[in-house]
Amino acid sequence: MTHQFTLPKQSKMLQPAFTYGVATSSFQIEGAADKRLPCIWDTFCATKGKIKDASHGKTACDHVSRFKDDVKLIADLGVDAYRLSISWARVLHKDGNVNEEGMAFYIALLDELNAQGIKPFVTLYHWDLPQHIEDNGGWLNRKTAYLFADYVEKVCVHFGERVHSYATFNEPFCSAYLGYEIGIHAPGLCQRKYGRQAAHHILLAHGLGMTVLKKYSPNTLNGIVLNYTPAYPASNSEEDRRAADLADQYHNQWYTQPIFDQTYPDIINQLNDHERPHIEEGDMAIIGQPIDFLGVNFYTRATYRAAADLGFQEIAPGDEVEKTDMGWEVYPDAFTDLLIDLHKRYDLPPVYITENGAATVDVLEQGEIIDTQRIAYYQSHLNAVNDAIEAGVDIRGYFAWSLMDNFEWAEGYLKRFGIVYVNYATLARIPKLSAKLYKALITGRT
Ligand code: NOJ
Repeated sequence: MTHQFTLPKQSKMLQPAFTYGVATSSFQIEGAADKRLPCIWDTFCATKGKIKDASHGKTACDHVSRFKDDVKLIADLGVDAYRLSISWARVLHKDGNVNEEGMAFYIALLDELNAQGIKPFVTLYHWDLPQHIEDNGGWLNRKTAYLFADYVEKVCVHFGERVHSYATFNEPFCSAYLGYEIGIHAPGLCQRKYGRQAAHHILLAHGLGMTVLKKYSPNTLNGIVLNYTPAYPASNSEEDRRAADLADQYHNQWYTQPIFDQTYPDIINQLNDHERPHIEEGDMAIIGQPIDFLGVNFYTRATYRAAADLGFQEIAPGDEVEKTDMGWEVYPDAFTDLLIDLHKRYDLPPVYITENGAATVDVLEQGEIIDTQRIAYYQSHLNAVNDAIEAGVDIRGYFAWSLMDNFEWAEGYLKRFGIVYVNYATLARIPKLSAKLYKALITGRT
């Protein structure tokens, strides 16, 4: 059993300039739902059958009440940075005016982090759209992109100099595809046209948000966080290789190519007229303006074979491969390959790994959690990042997902991603062995 995270002696990841952090998001940890407007995840949770354990975010990890202790917990890990997200429904009222109490909560949290020397990496949208905006069409309504820009302006004007980095969006793929195309996430809509249109409006909102950030927060590192599930062919046949390429276009490049090349991937031409997103003149230039950093979230890969319709079909990993508690294959080589591939395809700004981690079955025994599978996952994926750096990719930081166990969306509280354990009966936080090793890696840098 590994009791240490190791990296080659000369690794850039062992230099103090490399940023280490932990990440969370508002809906997943905050609770205090009564002190903000309802969001689409409150509605989704209240819909029968949508969340595996029928749970909700009303209390979650009770972070709003416990944030001071949580900042101490973060500081105790020795990390340089903390990635959090802002709940739009907490900081603005329905009429768009600022909710001073909600804003004050984040300002106090940011002050606490800064007092501890922890750099705040703020994500402006991590899936929790205010329900009243969804009631007007949500991300299917182009106006939502402009409402987002207004929200961003209010947030960054209030936060002033307290923030180190802003990401406009976290994982637009999940909001658009899972939320509006296949309906397993909020708001639970199911049409290809919806998924594509939501994606376009989210990307547009990203671009409009970038314009605001450049004007009102020119000194922060401003960018976006994208998730990648690299696509591999089920066999070496030309058909399967083509299938993997199409899946990659549809699920990964769809959100990346507009940002760096101001175009959608070719697969857009396979869509029927009624499935294609409505794109207005000038949109692609707004979307594709320069960003200061790209956040990359990586967990696993996917395998595809040729099929009808769009040309690809995903194949679940077999029994022979190692999987995490999410059923996701452990395949760290895909992480290195992905980072090198992005570097070759696009003119990338500095990259931060904004999420990486694993859900495992954690057992609390005599006050301890010896999370060996998670530890092995982190070790192999830290190595994978290091390999990409050695191959020339400019990677500046790494954030573990997650600081603590939390509400894992459609899985509820059944899946634990934390390096800190949360006892949901008492809400006590207990650092797992992975947290201790992460701390040793970070504090052991020269
Ligand atoms: C992606 C998301 O950003 C985060 O909210 C989620 O909990 C993790 N991945 C794990 O699924």
